[in-house]
This record gives sequence, structure tokens and C-alpha cells, in this order.
Amino acid sequence: MSNERTIKIFDTTLRDGEQSPGASMNLPEKMEIAQALVDLGVDIIEAGFPIASPGDFEAVHEIASNIRGATICGLARCNERDIDRAWEALKTAKSPRIHVFLATSAIHREFKLKMTPDEIAARAIEGVSRAASYCDDVEFSPEDAARTEPDFLCRVVEEAIKAGATTVNIPDTVGYATPTHMGRVISDLVNRVPNIGDAVIAVHCHNDLGLAVANSLAAVEAGAGQIECTINGIGERAGNCALEEIVMAMRTRHDYYKVDTRINTERLVPTSRLVSSVTGMQVQRNKAIVGRNAFAHESGIHQDGMLKEPTTYEIMRPEDVGFAKTDLVLGKHSGRAALADRAKGLGYHLSGEQLQVVFEKFKELADKKKDIYDGDISALCEQQIRGSDLTKEWSLVSLEVSSGTKRQPNVKMTLKHAGEEHSAEVAEGDGPIDAAFWAVERITGVKLNCKDFQVRSATLGRDAQGTVTVDIEHEGSIFRGRGVSTDTVESTVLAILDAVNRICWKAAKPAAAT
Ligand code: KIV
Ligand code: ZN
Repeated sequence: MSNERTIKIFDTTLRDGEQSPGASMNLPEKMEIAQALVDLGVDIIEAGFPIASPGDFEAVHEIASNIRGATICGLARCNERDIDRAWEALKTAKSPRIHVFLATSAIHREFKLKMTPDEIAARAIEGVSRAASYCDDVEFSPEDAARTEPDFLCRVVEEAIKAGATTVNIPDTVGYATPTHMGRVISDLVNRVPNIGDAVIAVHCHNDLGLAVANSLAAVEAGAGQIECTINGIGERAGNCALEEIVMAMRTRHDYYKVDTRINTERLVPTSRLVSSVTGMQVQRNKAIVGRNAFAHESGIHQDGMLKEPTTYEIMRPEDVGFAKTDLVLGKHSGRAALADRAKGLGYHLSGEQLQVVFEKFKELADKKKDIYDGDISALCEQQIRGSDLTKEWSLVSLEVSSGTKRQPNVKMTLKHAGEEHSAEVAEGDGPIDAAFWAVERITGVKLNCKDFQVRSATLGRDAQGTVTVDIEHEGSIFRGRGVSTDTVESTVLAILDAVNRICWKAAKPAAAT
């Protein structure tokens, strides 16, 4: 391909990423991530699917109104209601984009849509034209494109561009493609669609076969100019193309691909950590680029080589992706300014009030543990950015726990809700954690069907804070809660309450619009 192109990075963490089970985010969390994506340098932020629910609409609208520095995109099916609702949410953006999608593969046409190819082509034209009547920037996605007959795909893409699509996105919706296959799909469009030069070709690869990044690279080689991806690769099922991996692949192998992006790569690790803590989806240790072990060298031979010349075993420098040389940052005597600076470095944008609360908690923590690491600061900031409204939500007032090898656990707990305190004492369950679940259930009246429970240390050392993540099933949906404390039973209670508050928050919202 021609050399030195700049590939646009389209981030869909807030839309496709949020479709990962349990990864739903509330408004303050979405705003925080959107700002972090701007700092990272993404070109387009897909902020949500406005028709899907009032919460999605509000999030897209708030991001469109307040976040500057990237194009803000909203998703719509190919019908008037969806497109009108998307525009309503997006119209205050400085640079809005409507993303219209319609399935084109034979399987989807026959079984899902029950439409003929002619009907699909006509619907695509109608949808793109309507979106283009609102907005100059329109993206069209033939869903399941990788399994669509090539002739039909070329026809629909050509019609969509004629109707006003400025980007045509080629999704591998079910992660079926392989790199050679994906490269061919894109080359076919480049060679056979007469007006292809009037639009940017994008790719949107899912990771069901673990090939999303490889397929996206093949698409770039064949002429794609935009990649759709998510932080940490989160998304439907096995997820999407991981932003950090595709960006670093193109940068590290610039000699081969000869393409650039506008990503500030030193923001990759902080952004990954932010998304991980907000969604509760932990990043595996050996995850490329952002995993804890991505730059750790264990074998003696490797360590020896590294000491002699780092490039013997490292193809990227850890600092280029945002790993600090040491993450020991603050101690008991550190001041507010140092904390604010470190929080900013970690990607958190705290208001004056939030910073004050984090600072108070930081001082309390510094009394308990000597060294405060980045993980500790992230955990403290994370609790604040949820924007919780403690007058409406359940919060922990006090907790007493006793347990032992030969005795029944006992938990005494007081929670606060709407200004009133409620207490319970529970002497049941197979241990203090189980007893804590029973106590919260008894006080809040919310049935707690625990589907997953994980404890992880926020930092190193035996005085580390424990981060607990719980997945609670409620009326068919998973609600993830997180809690952090130096006491693991307390972190568990905080995590359960976080999930309970999310359940109550969802229940208080009007029903979905679709
Ligand atoms: O995977 C997919 O096909 C999608 C479309 C909406 C682009 O997410
Ligand atoms: Zn997708």
C-alpha cells in the first residue's frame, strides 16, 4: 500500500465494550473514560447506542455536549426512530457522527431480518440518506460483512457511499475471519467498488478466534484507514480488537506497515487501568502491552541480555506504553498537590471536591500502610469518580466480624440509606464472607445471587489493599460491584453494596426505549 498513512482510531469501549457481561458503566464513569480517551488521542469515540435505553441516550448526550477533542459517534439501526434518536443525542457535539448498521449476510437476512437482498439495499440507502440529512459525518456498517457474499457486499457499500456514507465499516461481527480472508474482503472493496475513494474504509473485528488484531492489521495492509477497537479488547463475547495491541503493532512495525496513528502511547497503561477498574474486568498478567508481566523478564539468560542491551529481549520500551520505572509514589507526608499530580498522571480528572475526599482517604490509608502505590491511588480515585449520591444509596456505617476455625461466623452490620440507619446481626453462613452477604441481603431486601467473587491485591506487599469484585445476578442481568479496603471482609461488603446500588439505580430508571 501507499506509505505514511495516518490510521484513524475509533474507540468503541463505551458501546461495544460496554456490551461485555457485567461491564455496564454509569454516567460519571462514562464521562471519565471519554475524557481519558481524548487524552489518549483517539479520533472517534463511539459513546453509545442512544435508542437502547434512556441511560445510553443520556450518556451519549452528555459526552456530545461536554467532551471536546474527538468526534463523538452514536450507533443506530437502519430505521427512522433509531437515527432520529441518535441525532437528538449527538447534535450538541462539535464533531458528531451517526453510525448506522444493517446486517447483510445471507444468514442474517434470512433468519434475523427476513428481508431480500433488494430490500436490504433499499433500507441501507434510506437509513444512510436520513442520517446524512442531519450530519455530514455518517458511518455505515453492513453487519456480518465478513460472511456476506462479496458481490452483494460491494453493491451495498457502493449504494451506501452514494447515499452519503463517509465511512464504510466492515465488521467481522462473529469473529469468523482469518487475516488472509479479511485482507481479501478489503482488497475486493478497494478494487471493485467504483466510488470507494469517496469514503474511508474501516474494520471492526471481533476476537472469537483470537484473531481480531491480526485481522485488523491485514485490513490496514489492504487499504483500511480506520480501525475500530476497545481498551483491553473488551466487548461482546471474546471481545473486540484491543486498541493497545493494534496501535503498538503498527508503531513497533512501522518499518513494515508504514502507517501512523495519533495515539499518545504513554497513556495506554493508565487508560487500560482506568477501564479495568471501572468495568471490574481484570487484565490478565500476560496480556500484551498492558499486562503486569508484559515487560517482566524472569529467565537468567534474558535478564543478562537485558542488562547488556535492552533491545536483545524488548521490542518496545515500557515507558513508551506508560509503565513507570517505579510506581512507589507517595507516603504519609505527601501533600495534596503531589496526590493531585499523581492522580492526573494515572488518568483521573477529579473535581476540587473529589480531590479533597480522595486526599482525606489517602491520609487515612497512609496511617495504615507506609508506602502508597499507584494501585492504591487508582483504587481511591475510582471510588470517587462513580459520582455516588450517598443520600440515596446504601453505604456502610459500621461492621464487626468474628469467626474462627471451630465457630459460627458472626457479622454485625449497620448500613445507611436515605439518611436512616439499618442494622442486622447474622450468625449464619459458611464463613464471614457468606455471613456478610446474608447481612446485606437482610438489610437491603435485595436478593443476592452471587455469580462470581474475586479478590485481588491492589498493590504489592502484605499490607496491600484488597480489591473485591462481585458479579450479582438480578432479573437476568449481571451487576458488577467493586470494593477496596485493607480489610477483605470490608472490601466484600463495599463491593456488594456497589452492586446493590447499581441494581437500585437501574430499577429507578424508566424502561428501555426499544
Ligand atoms: O460487531 C458488529 O457488527 C457491530 C456493529 C454494530 C458495527 O458491533
Ligand atoms: Zn461489534
